Amino acid sequence: MKFFVDTADLAEIKDLASTGLLDGVTTNPSLVAQSGAKSFIALIEEICKVVKGPVSAEVAATDYATMLKEGQRLAKIAKNVAVKVPLTPDGLKVCKALSDGGTMVNVTLCFSASQAILAAKAGASFISPFIGRLDDISTDGMQLVRDIVQIYKNYPAFKTEVLVASIRHPLHLVDAARIGAHVATIPPKVIRQLYSHPLTDKGLAAFVADWQKTGQSILDAA
Ligand code: G3P
Repeated sequence: MKFFVDTADLAEIKDLASTGLLDGVTTNPSLVAQSGAKSFIALIEEICKVVKGPVSAEVAATDYATMLKEGQRLAKIAKNVAVKVPLTPDGLKVCKALSDGGTMVNVTLCFSASQAILAAKAGASFISPFIGRLDDISTDGMQLVRDIVQIYKNYPAFKTEVLVASIRHPLHLVDAARIGAHVATIPPKVIRQLYSHPLTDKGLAAFVADWQKTGQSILDAA
């Protein structure tokens, strides 16, 4: 399973990239606004230098012609840019045009299996079902992931990867992995939560204390 981080905060991205576990980055207009970055293009350029895997950069327009131009501009930033487009008729037309030209496209704001089928037919590299936002309205977000993974498996010609988005807690990630989703984009806070277990902390404290009792040092050993 690939791990992307869902943030536009460059310091967070650098820190998480140093773990060696990061396969990509997703941003969206809200995350860019939160980051306070003055130049979106410069920010994406910097992120692409830090992380070699796919870096999603979202178009701002909603009409076909402008979205296509924006997507082409974003794709020029670096080879690892995945242009993010909304799941609308115009967005999917842009997806087809950019994908046919060899650009990675992440289709975002997916809330149904029928939308995911359209994105795969439009040649998307990634489909982003937003599971947390479905859970927020009392709809099972993970069932959508299950449906999409199953449907895509039925059609080996579909090359679209399921990128689980709007992840809110570690169990979302574990359930998505159980289902076999290709990618999870995870907020930095949740990535850090993945490491935590009280028994790990307790066990380590005991090992450290017991080791001290031996009076030895591994590095000073002959
Ligand atoms: O990047 C898209 C998605 O992950 C947003 O998540 O928490 O705003 O629903 P959220």
